[in-house]
Amino acid sequence: MATKILTDKAAAEKLTDAEKAMGEVPKSELTTGMQSMEKSTSIYSYAAPEKDKTKVKLKLSDEKVERIKAICALFDNNGGELISVLHLTQNELGYLPAEVQEVIAHSLKLSVAHVYGVVTFYSYFSMIPKGRFPISICTGTACYVRGAEKVLEEFKRQLNLKVGETTPDGKFSLNCLRCVGACGLAPVILVGEKVYARVAPDGVKAILDAYKEK
Ligand code: FES
Repeated sequence: MATKILTDKAAAEKLTDAEKAMGEVPKSELTTGMQSMEKSTSIYSYAAPEKDKTKVKLKLSDEKVERIKAICALFDNNGGELISVLHLTQNELGYLPAEVQEVIAHSLKLSVAHVYGVVTFYSYFSMIPKGRFPISICTGTACYVRGAEKVLEEFKRQLNLKVGETTPDGKFSLNCLRCVGACGLAPVILVGEKVYARVAPDGVKAILDAYKEK
C-alpha cells in the first residue's frame, strides 16, 4: 500500500498521466507540478478583468485554453454558472489547477480570487489530479451517525492520506461528500462510480484490496 502523500515529483508523474490521457503534453517535456504545463506549450496571455488591474500571463496549451473557453461559452460566459463551469471543466481535465482557474475567471469576468474561493470551498473540486480510483466518503448526517467518521479514519490510516490527497502512484485519492441520497444504506462510500453500502472500518481493507491489481 502506498505510504506517502503526493509530493511535487509524484504530482508531476500524475500530471504526466493526466496530460498524456488528453494527448497534449509529451512526457519528456514535463518537470514538476504546474511547471509541467508551462514547459509544454505556447503562452496564452490576456488582460485580467478590469478590477484586477493587472496583466496576467498564462502558460497552457492553446488547445486546453480553447477547450476551457468553449466550456465557459456553453454557459454563455455567465458568472452565475461558475459552479457548472467548474464541474464540467474538472470532469474533462480531472482537476482545476490555478492556471485553469485563471482562464475561467477571465472568461466569466470574475476575479481569480472569487473562482479560487469557490474551488477551495467545495470539497468536490480539486486542485491536484484525483486518483485513478477516487474514494469518496459520505459524511452526511445519516452516514455520520452510523460511523462514517471511523470508516474515513480507517481509509486515511490504510492509505496514509489526508482528505484531498492522492497516493504517490496516482491510484487512490480521498475525499468527503455530503449526502449522496442513499441514507438507508449508510454509511456509504463511493470508489469512482461504484457504491459500497453499510461500510464498516473492518471492511475497508477488502475494498482497497479489490483495486490493488487494477
Ligand atoms: S447521509 Fe450518506 S447517503 Fe445520505
